[in-house]
Order: sequence, then C-alpha cells, then structure tokens
Amino acid sequence: MEWNSKNGFNWCEIVDLDTLVGRLIQPDTRPGKWSGEDIRRALGLYNYENRRHSDQRRGITLVNNDIAGTAGTSPGISISFQPLLPGEREDFHRHNYVAIYYWVQGEGYTVIDDDGIDREEHRIYWKGGDVVSAPAWCNHSHVCTGTEPAIQLAIHDFPELCFKRAMLSEDPDGAQYLRHMVKGQVPSFNALDTEADLAERSQRIAIKQGVPSPSGGGK
Ligand SMILES: [Fe+2]
Repeated sequence: MEWNSKNGFNWCEIVDLDTLVGRLIQPDTRPGKWSGEDIRRALGLYNYENRRHSDQRRGITLVNNDIAGTAGTSPGISISFQPLLPGEREDFHRHNYVAIYYWVQGEGYTVIDDDGIDREEHRIYWKGGDVVSAPAWCNHSHVCTGTEPAIQLAIHDFPELCFKRAMLSEDPDGAQYLRHMVKGQVPSFNALDTEADLAERSQRIAIKQGVPSPSGGGK
C-alpha cells in the first residue's frame, strides 16, 4: 500500500455524527436456508486428484448475499463444510480466528501442537457427532483415519476479523508464511496458493438457492 502526502490525505474527511451514523448503519438481512442436498452434491466434487497441495483449505461455505461490506452466513460468522478423504491430513497452520468444528461424519483426530508435531498426547480424537474447538492462534491439523470421508462443519468468526482488517494467518505453519489478510497480500487463505491456482482451479462452486426445480416447487 502506498501513501506519501504529508499535507493531508484526500481519503480522510471530517463529518458530523449524523452523517457517520448514516454510513455505519447496515441494511437488515433476511433469513437464510441452504439445502442439504446441494451441500452434499457440492462436497462430492472434491476428490484426491483435484487437491492442489497438502495444505489446501478446501470446502464450501454458506453465504447470505444480503450482507453488505463482507461475506458470511451472518455478518460476523461463517459456516463452512470441509471434506477430508480417507488418509488425508492437513499441514499444520494457525490463524487468529476461532474455529468450532462439528464432525458430521467420519473418524479421525485434530492435533494441536505449538511445534507442529503430530504427538499422540496432543491429539483430540473425534467421530461423527463430536464437536471440537480450536482457539485462536493454536497450531493445528486435522487427519481423517476412517474408511469413509470425514465431513467437518466449521463455524468461524473470520468475516468479522476480515471486516476489521485484523485477520492474521500463518498457513502453512512457519514464520515465513505469516500474512496480514488484506487484499493485495495473498490471493487466498493459504500462502502456498498462487494467483494461477485460483484462476485455473477446478473446484469453483456457486449453487444458487431458491431456484425452482424442474418439477415445480422451490427448495
Ligand atoms: Fe484451521
């Protein structure tokens, strides 16, 4: 980001409080609904072949398009689904957003270790139905040990942190990958992803809800 004038900045102004409040107040949002059928269909698009690298953060997220100025399931919170195929593991990584995981199905463990080492004593084993939380800035990884894909429902507060321009990510683990998550710094959450990865990716998913099905009724 460049700025050089010492005589005042033309992006700064003084306004009265009424004007400020007029700019702060956001449009209200309508309720949301996302169909389980569409979620399962989208998750089925991920396979071993289209994983970019061992630390790709891949999955789908539920967005309410009424939200202005950021994106999420509600203004500060996002709900995402991440599949982990049998034998898959993520690289260790950390971020200053909080994660709460509901494991919809599957079997495996989450390991939280400052040094990024998969130590038995730091594993949190889970199976379908369990809930696990990962506090902000803990170094963590998920591993699927079962024979069916694990499906993780993740609740994150990163929309709020992004909106405040306060989100930090070290993904994968390593001081050289520490990033301030603002536009122009990184193309995605993961430091290993390149602009070309995003332009050419085969997992671009956008399933509109509320579109009438061929048989008539909406979802
Ligand atoms: Fe994470």
